[in-house]
Amino acid sequence: MTFRGFLGLLFLVLAVYCGLDPFKHSAISEFPDYVSLKVEMPDWSLVPTDKDDQNLLQKSEIKFLNEIQGPESIAFDPLGRGPYTGVADGRILFWNGLKWTDFAYTSNNRSELCDLKPSPFAYLKHEHICGRPLGLRFDKKTGDLYIADAYLGLMKVGPEGGLATSLTTEAEGVPLRFTNDLDIDDEGNVYFTDSSIVYQRRNFMQLVFSGDDSGRVLKYDPTTKQTTVLVRNLQFPNGVSLSKDKSFFLFVEGSVGRLRKYWLKGEKAGTSEVFAILPGYPDNVRTNEKGEFWVAIHCRRSLYAYYLGLFPKLRTFMLKLPISAKIHFLIQIGGRPHAVVAKYSPEGKLLQILEDSQGKVVKAVSEVEEKDGKLWMGSVLMPFIAVYDLP
Ligand SMILES: *[C@@H]1O[C@H](CO)[C@@H](O)[C@H](O)[C@H]1NC(C)=O
Repeated sequence: MTFRGFLGLLFLVLAVYCGLDPFKHSAISEFPDYVSLKVEMPDWSLVPTDKDDQNLLQKSEIKFLNEIQGPESIAFDPLGRGPYTGVADGRILFWNGLKWTDFAYTSNNRSELCDLKPSPFAYLKHEHICGRPLGLRFDKKTGDLYIADAYLGLMKVGPEGGLATSLTTEAEGVPLRFTNDLDIDDEGNVYFTDSSIVYQRRNFMQLVFSGDDSGRVLKYDPTTKQTTVLVRNLQFPNGVSLSKDKSFFLFVEGSVGRLRKYWLKGEKAGTSEVFAILPGYPDNVRTNEKGEFWVAIHCRRSLYAYYLGLFPKLRTFMLKLPISAKIHFLIQIGGRPHAVVAKYSPEGKLLQILEDSQGKVVKAVSEVEEKDGKLWMGSVLMPFIAVYDLP
């Protein structure tokens, strides 16, 4: 057989194998309805090339190592106490200055299934029972804590904590399936994201692979108790943050790697536009006191992820190979953790970028909260909070 013939045969065998997946080893074998959708990747010329050559994030201090698992969102209460953070076992914890204490929880059905486990990944199986608080925000006036729980929807708990109460679990009759982040305006309206109506958080890798476009940006009105859809057909919407003047809010499009601006006031109210193309795939976004936006970026955009985004058939083919979802995910994020945080002006100008390109200290960031000259960084994948002193 010629070498070409051999390659041809190999390809044929691989194609048949992938078509049948006889041993159910692929990352999508348990998802019979899986489809890959095209992701309209912004052109490389639009992606910022700015770099932090000094890897300044490596100077961060690792705090609370192994005392907390998978802290996504970090919040301080109106008295400046905290942080408060939601962790992998479903609790919301409060740092009282001396130790972590239980503050609140979202599930009324917690049991030994929610007990401590060795790694943040080990909780995925029971998250729908234990709850998984992601986005957290305090109402500055009332001290109420608003919670986006990935499984239990939009919730709220008073300043004394305890079991949170549900605000909404649906919009336009379609259940929330992956509530992710939120912000609140002065009237108590809540702007929040439902990342997908197909994939739940425990299947976030398949959500990333698929380019699923069922994500929504929503508004909960506390007076009417109604939830309306503001933007639909989004690919992994995630972080949400109002601008300091409350004239607009930003939300991230996770699969595209982009920030969108939704106008609340003025002529353009009710419309949205691109705010910035990001250097990678974002999670949460938070404002500082000056009204600048800090964006947590899970990893930089890679050539591999770019081409897989543009060619969904190729993506499906790759995913049918007998390779686990975790390995695919690792390849997609560039082979190793690479933490990036970026600061944008209210006009969308990139002001600062901080990195740990080797994932030595910070590894991956889900949220950046600036307080008193420090950046507090949480991560759903890490058992700690990283704190960086701004010069
Ligand atoms: C409560 O949790 C148990 C497992 O501990 C589960 O079997 C049951 O379905 C849950 N009930 C509800 C209402 O979610």
